[in-house]
Amino acid sequence: MNKLRHVAIIMDGNGRWAQKQNKERTFGHYQGVENVRNIAIKANQLKIEVLTLYAFSTENWKRPLIEVNYLMKLPEVFFDRFLKELMDNDIKIDMIGEWKGIPEDTANVLKKAIAKTANNKGLTLVFAMNYGGKQEILQAVNSCINDPELNTVITEDIFNDHLDSGKYPDVDLMIRTSGEYRISNFLLWKLAYAEFAFVNEAWPEFTPEKFETVISDFDDRDRRFGGIK
Ligand code: IPE
Ligand code: IPE
Ligand code: MG
Repeated sequence: MNKLRHVAIIMDGNGRWAQKQNKERTFGHYQGVENVRNIAIKANQLKIEVLTLYAFSTENWKRPLIEVNYLMKLPEVFFDRFLKELMDNDIKIDMIGEWKGIPEDTANVLKKAIAKTANNKGLTLVFAMNYGGKQEILQAVNSCINDPELNTVITEDIFNDHLDSGKYPDVDLMIRTSGEYRISNFLLWKLAYAEFAFVNEAWPEFTPEKFETVISDFDDRDRRFGGIK
């Protein structure tokens, strides 16, 4: 059995899924929020330590303002509906990405959820919000350069500790929904030795059962990390 500590998901396909049903793209995002709850509860039951969900990329600002605004409201929708349940399930919330740029209301909602769940001991549910993998690496480079204590050669561990996602283990399994085969600037450093799973279902139709199937497939992977088995 492979050790599974950190799962990361690119929750993709909301818009196309809605449009296929002749609905607005935002309907897909709304249904996607419901699925965040479903998958988080399942991940917690499966004793996964960290689940990182790609919620908004640094590139998503290119979308029409009306969609960007809708996406920025989703943390409020999510925590209004589910914060109590997350507490009951001992789930802890965190965020990676640039706070700068996120509307104040959205940032406050996230910060409140992070503070409220800070002592929970179950799954850590990390939202990658205004997140870009390149930007995360650059921010770590700059924070190394500006660290007065760091007048030494920068090792992998030191660099890792300067990343936003530094406190979390490397990603073991990265899942992308909606049949797209790319990383889209997600967690570039932490994905170095991740196993990848690309599924055709759009995010709103990626059920907890399907999630479990992907995880049991991961169990059968032969992870060699460059060695020989
Ligand atoms: C994922 O669904 C949600 C975000 C990127 C915020 P999309 O909105 O990318 O949906 P598609 O890929 O256009 O169908
Ligand atoms: C990646 O999905 C970002 C999130 C899921 C938040 P996109 O839909 O933005 O990615 P591309 O544009 O297909 O690469
Ligand atoms: Mg997409």
